[in-house]
Amino acid sequence: MYVKFVEQMALRSHTLWSVGIGFKALVRVITIYNQSGGVMKTSLTMNLGYQLALHGRAVLLIDMDPQASLTVFMGLEPADLGQTIADSILDNAPLAMHQNVHRMDLLPSNITLSAVEMRLISAMAREWRLKRILEPIQDQYDFILIDAPPSLGVLSVLSLVASTHVLIPIQTQYKSYKGTELLLDSVKQVQEQVNPDLQIAGIVPTIYASANAQDKAILAAIQEQLAAIATIYPPVPRATAFADASMEHLPLALYSPNHSAVKVLESIATGVEALP
Ligand SMILES: Nc1ncnc2c1ncn2[C@@H]1O[C@H](COP(=O)(O)OP(=O)(O)OP(=O)(O)O)[C@@H](O)[C@H]1O
Ligand SMILES: [Mg+2]
Repeated sequence: MYVKFVEQMALRSHTLWSVGIGFKALVRVITIYNQSGGVMKTSLTMNLGYQLALHGRAVLLIDMDPQASLTVFMGLEPADLGQTIADSILDNAPLAMHQNVHRMDLLPSNITLSAVEMRLISAMAREWRLKRILEPIQDQYDFILIDAPPSLGVLSVLSLVASTHVLIPIQTQYKSYKGTELLLDSVKQVQEQVNPDLQIAGIVPTIYASANAQDKAILAAIQEQLAAIATIYPPVPRATAFADASMEHLPLALYSPNHSAVKVLESIATGVEALP
């Protein structure tokens, strides 16, 4: 009787094993974060997401910036959206999911997201709002990438609390590099106070012009000073093709498949796939 039971359990676990149930890697929720403006957060979110989708990963992008650049880059018109991520955060509305936009799903935003800052000031457990609304759907994805706004405010905190990882783009310019201490300090505060599991997925030097002395010096500084804190990915070159691709509402790999920057995006995607 007992032997039969053991045999049955073995058979069942073999079946589970062979169809892969229960062995799917846990979802990585990654906020692309830097309080500095224009350092390639949004372009990196969209392009990294696309490379991961090309690898067959199930990817969800979330626009947590009221500027809605990601929503625009992905080809949606923010002002025309009836429902956005703001409605879910503020009023528990069903998620305004746009499926299969360049192989990825998208939760868009628009300017109504700026009301979150005001309306959540006194709300209970406000830091957990995004995490809670993602819980029912997150197992459907391998990667959820959150495009944070250029600020250290509530929207960034909501994003970091909902995340397993934070990926930090730093433009290879003094202005952006100078803000790193403040940036890392805000990550540390979130780790200490709300989300102790938050890990730094790495630092991506961005908009790198190799012919420019300042870019070279800042890239060297990033590689020397920050390697102890996190993986430093290869620099994403400065290339007008990124702006051109987003104007056409396309990831770079679709707009210009042979562009040299696609290889860099690809290596970042491979690194992100290897995250614990
Ligand atoms: N590698 C690059 N080379 C040149 N231009 C780039 C590169 N990456 C992004 N850009 C352009 O720089 C501008 C800012 O990029 P992006 O919107 O991705 O930055 P951001 O950090 O999200 O900005 P914000 O802080 O406003 O949200 C855009 O016009 C974009 O097309
Ligand atoms: Mg942006």
